[in-house]
Amino acid sequence: MSVQHFLTLDDLSPSILRDLIDRAIELKADLRAGKSHLPLKQKSLAMIFSKSSTRTRVSFEVGMRQLGGGSLYLSPSDTQIGRGEPIKDTARVVSSMVDGIMIRTSSHADVEAFAHHASVPVINGLTDYCHPCQLLADVQTFQELRGDIQGATIAWIGDGNNVCNSFMNAARVFGFTLHIATPAEFAPTPQLIELNKAHVKVMTSPQEAVRNADAIVTDTWASMGQESERAEREAAFRGYCVDQQLMNLANKDALFLHCLPAYRGFEVTDEVIEGTQSAVLQEAENRLHAQKALLEYLLT
Ligand code: CP
Ligand code: NVA
Repeated sequence: MSVQHFLTLDDLSPSILRDLIDRAIELKADLRAGKSHLPLKQKSLAMIFSKSSTRTRVSFEVGMRQLGGGSLYLSPSDTQIGRGEPIKDTARVVSSMVDGIMIRTSSHADVEAFAHHASVPVINGLTDYCHPCQLLADVQTFQELRGDIQGATIAWIGDGNNVCNSFMNAARVFGFTLHIATPAEFAPTPQLIELNKAHVKVMTSPQEAVRNADAIVTDTWASMGQESERAEREAAFRGYCVDQQLMNLANKDALFLHCLPAYRGFEVTDEVIEGTQSAVLQEAENRLHAQKALLEYLLT
């Protein structure tokens, strides 16, 4: 049987994804109640990070520990990965010693190649193309605070980046409408707009995008690897800051979501991210619970 990976949301069926969200909510309640649950006893997750991370690293590491297993952090700079060992060799060797592998790197094709050669599940912890684990936490957060996301309207404001790409897939898989407001030259991946066109509308006006929105989402204007474009991007995204005025054009109880890290005064104001509509801390915490549900599913 072929190995089940999680490189994009489409690697799992919509019904399994919905079950994972419900399971994440259940695992969160169990943790709060002090119930221990150790399905991953003796199991190990290798975590390869060739980009920085706070949430993804802590949530996978703590998640494995809470499920009874362990994890190891591998950085290209102190493994042979950074010295050019072929992906297929690393994938086969690491697979022979661990039960799952999480990778965060730039090239999505590299993660696909890694998964092709791995004999254990590979989880995408963010590539330049998408960030599916983030969407598990985001959908969980919406469901906890507002009920089923199916039929809701979500507005994405700002850069059409990796997280935006995963939001488009999520719109189709979970059945919500996504309005994306971005400067034309920063629109998300065209193939994904096409794939998700029944659920996604791309426009340039933030004011138009937030109309009837149940949640407003944004992300940094300069993702990891785009640091040198920061000034140019800040100029291009002027007018795309999520401020209270924009929040007020959405539905009255609209949530504010952001995968974090956030840059106040750029993609969002301090007032909004610290305000009563903001769910960003719950969203960040849910990375732990959602990925525990994912690990339990893939590794047992
Ligand atoms: N949202 C997210 O993936 O955060 P980190 O970069 O800190 O892992
Ligand atoms: N779009 C951001 C997400 C960080 C979690 C990046 O790729 O840097």
